[in-house]
Amino acid sequence: MASKSYSFGFVGLGNMGINMAVNLSTYAAEHGLPKIHVWNRTPEKAETLATGHCQVASSLKELALSCDIVHGCLANDEVALLVYRELFAANKTEAIYVDHSTLFPTTSKALYEEAQKHGVHFLSCPVFGPPAAAKSAGLLIALSGNDDSREIVKEYIVPAMGKGVIDCGVKTSDGALLKILGNNCILGTIELLSESFTLAEKTGFDVNLFYDFIQQWFPAPAWVNYGKKIRDGSFSGRTGFTLPGGMKDADYIRRLGAETSTPTPIIDQAWSHLTTAKAIGGPGLDWSSCAAGMRVTAGLKPFKGEDFSLDHQANDEMNGANGN
Ligand SMILES: NC(=O)c1ccc[n+]([C@@H]2O[C@H](COP(=O)([O-])OP(=O)(O)OC[C@H]3O[C@@H](n4cnc5c(N)ncnc54)[C@H](OP(=O)(O)O)[C@@H]3O)[C@@H](O)[C@H]2O)c1
Repeated sequence: MASKSYSFGFVGLGNMGINMAVNLSTYAAEHGLPKIHVWNRTPEKAETLATGHCQVASSLKELALSCDIVHGCLANDEVALLVYRELFAANKTEAIYVDHSTLFPTTSKALYEEAQKHGVHFLSCPVFGPPAAAKSAGLLIALSGNDDSREIVKEYIVPAMGKGVIDCGVKTSDGALLKILGNNCILGTIELLSESFTLAEKTGFDVNLFYDFIQQWFPAPAWVNYGKKIRDGSFSGRTGFTLPGGMKDADYIRRLGAETSTPTPIIDQAWSHLTTAKAIGGPGLDWSSCAAGMRVTAGLKPFKGEDFSLDHQANDEMNGANGN
């Protein structure tokens, strides 16, 4: 297998990246490959991996020069441009950069073009699935870019990080485009679940029975996982997808709609509910808190399980400071 001779790196150890990096390091260890080089803006997260088959890089340049294939999972377009430009500048000839961030298609295209100028390759490789799926290597992975590089990455990415690959071909921006189209479905599902659970509660129907229906009739991950979070009001973003990330993806969908004269009314509504949720509970909430925004419009309290309201969080902090 071609990957036997490669040295891997991973940059961006957030909720998704840290799980993917651990799986890549496990794969490297099991296949007798060198320790993978890891880097994160907040270095403490990288240091937590140092006990495994990972080596912490002190800089992006050091990581780039040590690796043949570098995976990345970064917050947004701006951050991806910043980080990859620094990596490309190391001019590690023929290195392959495999990006798992959700980026706007023109950003992926720009990175592909910049990579070429440095004699390196850039693949768009966004993923479907929450951090739990990243942890269990259960992601669905989109992949696009240069033919040879795609073939190399396809040799190990399943099973190392995911359960399936959708090969979108040679046009780098197509992987990013599929991810945005997919997220249109996922955020649309969250919006519909928010409305349906709110309606169920307002009619006095047992929401557990309603969730039973969801599980039996819509047994797809987005329906089942987000349905449970919305039923329970489990909106912590610590192990999910935080509102700034979710709103960034909603922006991408609306921007694609604007650029192609395609109305996106469901996502426009979701955007409004996400904004309300952020105003009430802050940016640390999971994007399933779209339901909190919806609940408010129907005259319900935003939170029914844990109270995520900013007032409550401030009280908690004050009590903590007082030793209560
Ligand atoms: N969470 C999900 O369910 C999910 C699912 C599929 C795809 N995605 C996509 O995957 C990507 C990461 O998502 P996530 O949930 O893992 O986000 P996250 O937990 O917020 O992690 C973001 C990563 O970007 C880094 N970063 C942020 N600003 C930076 C800067 N100025 N310079 C360098 N690094 C910076 C963060 O470093 P620090 O640790 O220092 O903050 C962290 O490593 C996003 O593009 C998202 O759209 C997320």
